[in-house]
Amino acid sequence: MEISAVDALLCPHCGLGFAAPLPEAGSLVCEGGHSFDIARQGYLNLLTGHGTKFVPDTAAMVGARDAFLDAGHYQRLGEALADAVKDHLCTPGDEPSLIVDAGTGTGWYLQQVLSAIGEENTDGTVAAVGLDISKFALRRAARRNPEAVNIVWDLWRDLPLGANTADVVLVVFAPRNAGEFARILKPGGVLVVVTPLPQHLAEIARDAGMLGIQEDKESALVHSLAAEFEPAGSRELLIPLRLTPSDVGNVALMGPAGHHLDPVELGQRLAKLPALTSATAAFRISVFRALSTHP
Ligand SMILES: C[S@@+](CC[C@H](N)C(=O)[O-])C[C@H]1O[C@@H](n2cnc3c(N)ncnc32)[C@H](O)[C@@H]1O
Ligand SMILES: [Zn+2]
Repeated sequence: MEISAVDALLCPHCGLGFAAPLPEAGSLVCEGGHSFDIARQGYLNLLTGHGTKFVPDTAAMVGARDAFLDAGHYQRLGEALADAVKDHLCTPGDEPSLIVDAGTGTGWYLQQVLSAIGEENTDGTVAAVGLDISKFALRRAARRNPEAVNIVWDLWRDLPLGANTADVVLVVFAPRNAGEFARILKPGGVLVVVTPLPQHLAEIARDAGMLGIQEDKESALVHSLAAEFEPAGSRELLIPLRLTPSDVGNVALMGPAGHHLDPVELGQRLAKLPALTSATAAFRISVFRALSTHP
């Protein structure tokens, strides 16, 4: 667990900070004495009571996403994100930079970003926090990114992070709490958002039982963030893919449709696919700058 990331955390009960945990400690204790478990797998649970009414991804769905990402299909998206993040980190020698990955899932994108930064930045001045409501996902994220603080948290609540602490907030297909993201960003910090384009994986949408992607997400995205953020650039990224039936099966399971899929029917559809199916992943990477700073 990264010490400088712990410095940015606030206790959700009393708003005070935390002392750095001792190595191998089973809990993190705030300055007001509230104690939170660090799970055996390395993630921290700050969420007490109920989170947003939300059906978390099952272990099978999380496993499918991890397998698909680990096969490297979205490597170019990982690289593009690392580039977008690197452009906005403080220069070495300043106070530590903090990246917050909101809805980190299994931590695959954060891992890509941290490893790209690590290749250039050897003085350890970049810290990271991964937030997600799913313990299944965070178990994997904690394994992938042990240097980050991975926290069970509901993004729709006030975030357990101090104002003006983050250089970059990253949101890859996860909920966007604009007010809170703006609060935790340092002046000049940025929000980097990845959304799918309407044509994303259209070639396999039917076979993978994917739910339809809404049209023109960009204007809706800009509009939804407008009270707190202004657009600071966006780019489209198209990635041609060659997918095996098992890759298509992982796509089917890893998305929201994974909750409703009939495995027998999916198996029948996958059995009819050729050895490799061509498809194009289509993403938009949007960068936003906060409009005002918070005290
Ligand atoms: C489609 S997944 C994307 C995960 C990861 N960014 C990736 O692309 O691999 C969406 C993630 O958001 C998380 N999530 C959904 N609602 C959430 C909430 N209210 N608070 C925290 N995390 C949430 C889910 O558990 C899931 O891991
Ligand atoms: Zn406390």
